[in-house]
Amino acid sequence: VHLSYTEYTERVYNLYSAVYDFIFGPSLESGRKVAVDLLNPRPYERILEVGVGTGLSIPYFPRGTAVVGVDLSKKMLEVCERKLEKLGRSDVELHAMDATHLDFPEASFDGAIALYCMSCVEKPVQVLLEMKRVVRPGGRVVFMNHFQSQNRFFALLEKGISPLAKRLGFRTDLELPPLLRAAGMTAAEIRKADPFGLYKAVKGIV
Ligand SMILES: C[S@@+](CC[C@H](N)C(=O)[O-])C[C@H]1O[C@@H](n2cnc3c(N)ncnc32)[C@H](O)[C@@H]1O
Repeated sequence: VHLSYTEYTERVYNLYSAVYDFIFGPSLESGRKVAVDLLNPRPYERILEVGVGTGLSIPYFPRGTAVVGVDLSKKMLEVCERKLEKLGRSDVELHAMDATHLDFPEASFDGAIALYCMSCVEKPVQVLLEMKRVVRPGGRVVFMNHFQSQNRFFALLEKGISPLAKRLGFRTDLELPPLLRAAGMTAAEIRKADPFGLYKAVKGIV
């Protein structure tokens, strides 16, 4: 059977869900903290997280923040739901949704964030445009991801392994400047999300 990009991604993350926190929890933790700090969510705000996955970012949001998490994979969301119960976070609400078609009105959030998500979607530009659409004027859009290196040697390596990575549910050849340009965004701030700067957190103002 031929699966669309979205169907394939959903299946991959359904499979990952049971072991996701074990593999990608502590190993990718620093970026989540850096990116949520950059977003700086306040307890009275309404924040969208796209590709919330198993909700590993939730402890970084101050209690009382109205977080709305969406994800393609229902199994990832099930793990997230259990975590929310354990943490007593009734301030977080979850929806199964494709980030390329957000089912929210425009300007309905104070901010939107995507963590390790831009390299998992087929159309990262469209996801960014959707995040911008649902955030109010003056609100923040933050995304954190691995981006293709500026170093030519590493960039070649990243392009080389990207087809393999795609089978595993992500790509390694996403470039930041063209992404920003295509989404009509300028970075108000960029922070290194790990000691080597392999991952970056980017903030834009809507
Ligand atoms: C690498 S995981 C990151 C999860 C979480 N943000 C974290 O920090 O661990 C990528 C997540 O994006 C979700 N995803 C992929 N494509 C998506 C799409 N088009 N719309 C919504 N979620 C998507 C996947 O199901 C997965 O949960």
